[in-house]
Amino acid sequence: MCGIVGYLGARNPKDVILGGLKKLEYRGYDSAGVAILHDGHTKRVRALGKLKALEDKLAHEPFNGHTGIGHTRWATHGVPSEINAHPHQVNGVSIVHNGIIENFQDIRRDLIQSGSTIESQTDSELIAHLISDQVQQTQDLRTAVERVLGKLRGAYAVLATWEQSPDEIVAFKEGPPLVIGHGRDENFVASDVQALIAYTQKFIYLEDQEVAVIKKDSIQIFSETGKPVDRDFVELNWDAEMVEKQGFPYFMLKEIFEQPRTLAVSLELLTNKERQEIITPTEYDDKLKTIFAGATDLRIVACGTSFYAATYGKYLFERLARLPTEVDIASEFRYREPVFNKKTVVMVISQSGETADTLAALRLVRQNGLEVISICNVKNSTIARESSLSIPMNCGPEIGVASTKAFTATLLNLLLFASQVAKVRETLSRAAETELMAALMALPAQVDLVLTHDKYFENAARGFHQFKGFLFMGRGVSYPIALEGALKLKELAYLHAEGYAAGEMKHGPLALIDERMAVVMIAPSDELYEKTVSNLEEARARGAKVIALGTGENTRLRDVSDAYLAIPASHWALNPILATIPIQLLAYHMAHSFGYDVDQPRNLAKSVTVE
Ligand code: AGP
Repeated sequence: MCGIVGYLGARNPKDVILGGLKKLEYRGYDSAGVAILHDGHTKRVRALGKLKALEDKLAHEPFNGHTGIGHTRWATHGVPSEINAHPHQVNGVSIVHNGIIENFQDIRRDLIQSGSTIESQTDSELIAHLISDQVQQTQDLRTAVERVLGKLRGAYAVLATWEQSPDEIVAFKEGPPLVIGHGRDENFVASDVQALIAYTQKFIYLEDQEVAVIKKDSIQIFSETGKPVDRDFVELNWDAEMVEKQGFPYFMLKEIFEQPRTLAVSLELLTNKERQEIITPTEYDDKLKTIFAGATDLRIVACGTSFYAATYGKYLFERLARLPTEVDIASEFRYREPVFNKKTVVMVISQSGETADTLAALRLVRQNGLEVISICNVKNSTIARESSLSIPMNCGPEIGVASTKAFTATLLNLLLFASQVAKVRETLSRAAETELMAALMALPAQVDLVLTHDKYFENAARGFHQFKGFLFMGRGVSYPIALEGALKLKELAYLHAEGYAAGEMKHGPLALIDERMAVVMIAPSDELYEKTVSNLEEARARGAKVIALGTGENTRLRDVSDAYLAIPASHWALNPILATIPIQLLAYHMAHSFGYDVDQPRNLAKSVTVE
């Protein structure tokens, strides 16, 4: 969960690397550093703290040279400190590393026994030692790296340089992503395309166990057996503007306000307004029919917010497509020896497409010979590439660590995909499809309308500052939104919050309720509304302070709550998307009022590429 950037070319590597690291800072931000080669030497500068600390240090440092690597860290082994910051340097070899080396204790012991002096507490420094030892013998960086590959166990994406060959960067990986950007007489390499789209739109994704030798005018890729690999470039249509904040104080707030547009993009692609139909893109229409013909059940596997979206998906696939559906947290699924039958279909959901547990779950399923469908936001990410069929979220780069637009894009794509499957299984009547289409056509404008009420959400947040404990509750398809609302408050405002099925209150949580407990009840006007309001009244009667979220003007909910957040009337399957907007803004305003860094919450990273 760190960010790495490398550059070779005529520009000043310091500027390219710093600019790229800034775009990756959401991946980790407890220390950072750069190393730039010039005249047979490597100049390295590292700093503890966010990238700004490194930037301040570099402001007075003259740099020459045209090859450099940089790193922004999310500490795994070794506390955040300058000595543990990357790049690590041993005898002219410099490396930056994203990942975790699981056998680092053995490697450390062997290196110390053979006389190496280890200066940091990190696993990453050991990679520099191993390469340095080998390159003294091979006098060639790539072959030295190839000898080291077999010694490493765990997850790693590494860039390595060597003073004796200053015109190349050698890159290699197992797990975390590495993407090479191709420019005119210059080349780039980074953890994510976000770091590079200001310079190029042409990319090559490195696969596991491959080694790339990158020069300013050439890119060579070698397989784990040392054979040259020929790989086409991928063109992306993301422009630099998409990645900037566009006037918002935080990427997360910008991404919340992008949702009317990002939802409209998916609707444009997956519905036909004239015919009032939900459509399946031709590129996967046949594959969808093949995968779901005779499917007996569906498993959806994911982590965090993506898992809550999966929980919403369960309701849709069972209700619309009548397909038995189970959901699993990926870090549990991958180790519990799940049982499948031959006609089980598995879906994984991942915004980044790089989450280690979700990727491991996908690989476990593929090893069992089953089809895996994915919903991802980063095209050509590892999970997208290894799926039988990958459905794009199409919501553009999501920079804020707390997922917002990707979550609602996932909900919408799950709804549309479940509808497509229902049409294949002939369980969606034309009347039901027409009713759903009418609500879908109104969705972007309704989301826009909810966003205009942001002041109400800010006031509601202000009224709940003093609470340390929150219970988010809902029933049916509102239950996953209660789970997501609790996570947003946890990860942004560092407050304890739990998401609960409202019907469970009498089975325990009711004991929590008194005037110190805040309750957020998601109670849209659907078939469970009455029961949900009863739950709200039970909480209220026991002294809870309540934020109620309901449909339109609702005096009954207003009368039994301390703050009321309204969403427009819609289809039962779309209420969760509309209800998500207020809970995102509630968490945003709570965190912002506490002065927390909304885009980079403490202890978290955007892409969890290690276990
Ligand atoms: C969401 O706000 C969190 N940042 C986190 O739970 C995230 O959803 C989870 O790590 C899964 O990430 P993915 O969708 O990229 O796999």
